[in-house]
Amino acid sequence: MTVTIVGAQLGDEGKGGVVDLYGDAADVVARYQGGDNAGHTVVYDDEEYKLSLVPSGAVRGKIGVLGNGCVVNPETLFDELDQLRERGLEPDVRVAARAHAILPYHRVIDGIEEDQKADLAAGTTGRGIGPAYEDKAGRRGIRIGDLTEPDVLRQRLEYVVPQKRALVTEVFGAAIPTEHADAFDVDALFEQYRRYGERLADEDMVVDSGTFLQQRVDADENVLLEGAQGTSIDIDHGIYPYVTSSNPTAGGATIGTGLGPTVVGQGEVIGIVKAYLSRVGTGPLPTELGGVEGQTPGYDSEGVDEDAPEERLATYIRDEGGEYGTVTGRPRRVGWLDVPMLRHAARASGFTGLAVNHIDVLAGLEEVKVGHSYEFDGEAVETVPPTTEQWGRCEATYRSFDGWPEVDWSAVAESGYEAIPENARSYLEYLSAELDTPIYAIGVGPGREETVILESPYDD
Ligand code: GDP
Ligand code: IMO
Ligand code: MG
Repeated sequence: MTVTIVGAQLGDEGKGGVVDLYGDAADVVARYQGGDNAGHTVVYDDEEYKLSLVPSGAVRGKIGVLGNGCVVNPETLFDELDQLRERGLEPDVRVAARAHAILPYHRVIDGIEEDQKADLAAGTTGRGIGPAYEDKAGRRGIRIGDLTEPDVLRQRLEYVVPQKRALVTEVFGAAIPTEHADAFDVDALFEQYRRYGERLADEDMVVDSGTFLQQRVDADENVLLEGAQGTSIDIDHGIYPYVTSSNPTAGGATIGTGLGPTVVGQGEVIGIVKAYLSRVGTGPLPTELGGVEGQTPGYDSEGVDEDAPEERLATYIRDEGGEYGTVTGRPRRVGWLDVPMLRHAARASGFTGLAVNHIDVLAGLEEVKVGHSYEFDGEAVETVPPTTEQWGRCEATYRSFDGWPEVDWSAVAESGYEAIPENARSYLEYLSAELDTPIYAIGVGPGREETVILESPYDD
């Protein structure tokens, strides 16, 4: 059977940790969308693994698959594999022949377009994700399977590279950056990507992901489908245009692996929820606390009183949750849980279970709030309106919960659900009732052991 893990909010909900938790019972872990824009953390045995492309099951020694719905930067993939091997793991990763490759020009163009977009910029990760998916839809992409056939690779590059040069110089009016000259040079790209193709072939990594995974399902093995990003940054169901360019929602798990919808639909779909919100990037966020300049629309940090209660609360949650960019150290936007956002996510993916993480981060607050509904143009609404401009006009209507104390969370994880402070349980039970979905797991810390498990999805 399959178990699909889907981010219910804006990414970074703790999907990697849940994949690791449930990965024990899985035989294969497959990513179905996105690329190295993801950052999935697994903490085990005092070791922290940050995985951007290799499926999180690698930490448990499971076979990993990058499905056809992924965009794969071979350089990142091989770097990550090499680093994991240096750390003593033996990752076994297969890549779909139908997955698209990210080329160096995708990254350069991602940066140039973000600069030019100004207010419409999503604050991308700069990994070339959007430009690679554009080429896929434009039928000018280069697929992983093409890298192992030099003639095909050469033909594709000769068509596409002059277009990319013209895009930069003629459309964006920019110069090809000298340090990236090779990114726009057919011969250099051909050599680099042909070599990647050889390594993929030498290590026997290229598969037909649908066939590979279906064989596992037919053999009664357990397949874990690891979503990246989250529902509110899904290209169809998220806050367009401040989104990523793929479908993190559960539908993406079928398109992006080659397993049929009935196969994925017979399994479980687990929505991963962070007990508050964090966001890297722009766009509306009705339950936001405080703001971050450059990301929160209209927020100007000058003149902001850092001691104002809301600002202090934002700083508290940000510090407790470590909500700072891993590379840049930039603060992330934070906010209260947004229940309309979660109702939307639960419907779009058909969640059969929830994992709620970061309950420990909110401990110690006197009051914990949730955005229960929105007031939208004078009316109360319980889910997210379909346009981002409408969403920006929504004001959250809050419900308040008594806070819960800081406790020994490892001891709680060992004892089980009843050991969770009562007020936190009320919060969780409210959420489960609102989404009409049972809670399968509760994260009370970053480590594998710091989880209260109520349900293991692979059990009958
Ligand atoms: P992902 O992208 O959804 O896999 O999430 P990230 O790994 O980007 O971000 C989640 C962060 O929170 C990581 O540093 C995790 O180790 C950490 N984390 C996950 N679950 C919990 C939890 O329940 N409590 C705390 N305090 N941290 C958690
Ligand atoms: P994981 O899998 C949080 C955001 C970026 C930007 C938008 C588009 O770790 O949850 P992109 O580079 O994808 O074109 O950027 O999406 N974004 C993420 N935010 N977690 C992620 O992944 C993200 N991947 C992309 O910040 O706003
Ligand atoms: Mg992440």
